Amino acid sequence: MKNRKLWGGRFDAPTDAFVEEFNASIDVDARMYREDIEGSRAHARMLGRQGILSEEDVRRILAGLDEIEREIERGELEFTVALEDVHMNIEARLTEKIGDAGKRLHTARSRNDQVATDMRLYLRRRLDELARRIRALQSALVALAETHAETVMPGFTHLQTAQPVTLGHHLLAWVEMLERDAARLADARARMNQCPLGSAALAGTTFPIDREATAAALGFDGPCRNSLDAVSDRDFVMEILAGAAICAIHLSRMAEELILWMSAPFGFIELPDAFCTGSSIMPQKKNPDMPELVRGKTGRIVGGLMAMLTTMKALPLAYNKDMQEDKQAVFDACDQLEGCLRVFAEMLPGMTVNRERMRAAAASGFSTATDLADALVRDGVPFREAHAIVGRSVAWCIEHGCELHEMGADACAAIDPRLRPEMVRALSVEASVAARDHVGGTAPAQVRAQCACWRHRLQAAERQGKTGAR
Ligand code: ARG
Repeated sequence: MKNRKLWGGRFDAPTDAFVEEFNASIDVDARMYREDIEGSRAHARMLGRQGILSEEDVRRILAGLDEIEREIERGELEFTVALEDVHMNIEARLTEKIGDAGKRLHTARSRNDQVATDMRLYLRRRLDELARRIRALQSALVALAETHAETVMPGFTHLQTAQPVTLGHHLLAWVEMLERDAARLADARARMNQCPLGSAALAGTTFPIDREATAAALGFDGPCRNSLDAVSDRDFVMEILAGAAICAIHLSRMAEELILWMSAPFGFIELPDAFCTGSSIMPQKKNPDMPELVRGKTGRIVGGLMAMLTTMKALPLAYNKDMQEDKQAVFDACDQLEGCLRVFAEMLPGMTVNRERMRAAAASGFSTATDLADALVRDGVPFREAHAIVGRSVAWCIEHGCELHEMGADACAAIDPRLRPEMVRALSVEASVAARDHVGGTAPAQVRAQCACWRHRLQAAERQGKTGAR
């Protein structure tokens, strides 16, 4: 034979050496070996039950696959680009071990339905891991939020001091963002959980296969309904990348705030030494490298999404080799996102908070101005007028270098007779947050109630132990 490939029968010449390397995906897809073997087991058992393979062949195949799995786990099986991908590396090894039975495994199957199945199985496992990581980070944040249910900090809009909020409330906002991330990935997982096996190359197979059986054996909800779609669909890769990108963007926003809060001008928090680094020249430096790196990883993950969308654009049905490029970005996104979630979940419990600095910052910038306007409104002043009265009060304070609660009776009377001195005296950041005591508000009581709900939810999710169950 002039070409010794598994598919070499119709070829006159061997593959060009560089093409062999360029064409190969083994470096990237080797990590799906477990799923590839799992899929082969299910396929072989089904072929046996359907009388397509003999019991003896199935027995040999299963024993051979067990051995190969052990070899790979022990690092004994050397993969080669000459065999292109994980599917052919394993199949060739099987044939080497068990002879003809190994050559029969590919009956009623193609690498096209094989790789589509492996990808879904592999990514399903990764999504479950990501779900666990998201939950762990949420738990860390909820614990911190409980500790800081009453800690007052400035709330910002336009990064300008707006109104006082509680740190616990701010942290719970992050928990909400992560919850949507988890839900998006769970959604992708649920939609992806259909089995391509049996679609073969594109049109199905002439053998009497049982697709329900292989789907069930592999934990899928059922077989994909259309063979052309099954082998050419990579929506699930795009969806996972999109979900990962949005989650990474959320993490980058948290990262940015941590970085700001740890800067000397803010001085709100300190991150633990174990998660920071120093400077080789400036002895005083303690840099928040972990949040910075998490912020930086976002580019890589978002880039992966763009790459995958572009790869799939305008591809005709069914399988095209372009689709071999579906793996690197999504695997990398899973790896990097998992790392980001892990480092935050492990770092945040060690974060220390400078309550005095936070409170002082919250009290500056006339952050209780809205509360004063609300007090006027409660006396019957229309809100727009109240807004103007408080605006004049702020101008007066700026001119006289004082805070709203320091305004005397004369000043109040001069600005507007409806502005009562008791109103300004009652202003404080504590009163401000405590007054926002409704569902979704920043009051300590609300934060505590939300924390209790989250503990409950997160524990329930842990018990279910599965993204799909969220
Ligand atoms: N390594 C290939 C991939 O990842 C497997 C499928 C190859 N199929 C084919 N018809 N060449 O896409």
